[in-house]
Amino acid sequence: MKLIPLGILGSGKGSNCRAILESIRSGALAAEVRVVISDVFDAPILDIAREFSIPNAYLTPGKFHTRLEPQAEAELVRMLREANVELVVLAGFMRILKSPMLEEFPRRIVNIHPSLLPKFPGLEAWRQALEAGEKITGCTVHYVDEQIDHGRVIGQREVPILPNDTPETLHARIQIAERELYPAVIAAFARKYQAS
Ligand code: GRF
Repeated sequence: MKLIPLGILGSGKGSNCRAILESIRSGALAAEVRVVISDVFDAPILDIAREFSIPNAYLTPGKFHTRLEPQAEAELVRMLREANVELVVLAGFMRILKSPMLEEFPRRIVNIHPSLLPKFPGLEAWRQALEAGEKITGCTVHYVDEQIDHGRVIGQREVPILPNDTPETLHARIQIAERELYPAVIAAFARKYQAS
């Protein structure tokens, strides 16, 4: 079977990365994670990669806080190319990608965001939705472009906001929805890849 080669980038906990790896292990997702890369040396996402025996690497991000230094971004392209990655999956990667990543992987970088985009881009989107008095929020998988949480929407899942929700309870339910949505969206990419 032809497996779509994935590269996963993350800065934190890695629950989406784990969901993708578990989905592959269960046979629901015809993909192969070639590499997991983090800009945070001790990020739990790298431990998850090790647990699943997936090649993993720390990428030194350089001096900026919200993006990679040009040299670091060039190194990232090199690592992903070397691993023959077809689809780049952002799973809690806290840096904006620019050139050369966007040119090297056109419409082949996806991200997951904890709101129904275009509503509530940016940080703590669940808190933004709660404070805005929304009745429904959710999560979105979208293509990555040069703006934050902005590119074309690929898939969404709704999550109702309950009367007693706190930011924490709401966030937890959104994350459950994320762990279903992301593998399902990637499975659609995998089917197209198989047919290509
Ligand atoms: C997710 O909630 C995702 O929506 C956001 O970052 C978080 C990453 O969580 N982009 P995890 O590292 O996958 O647990």
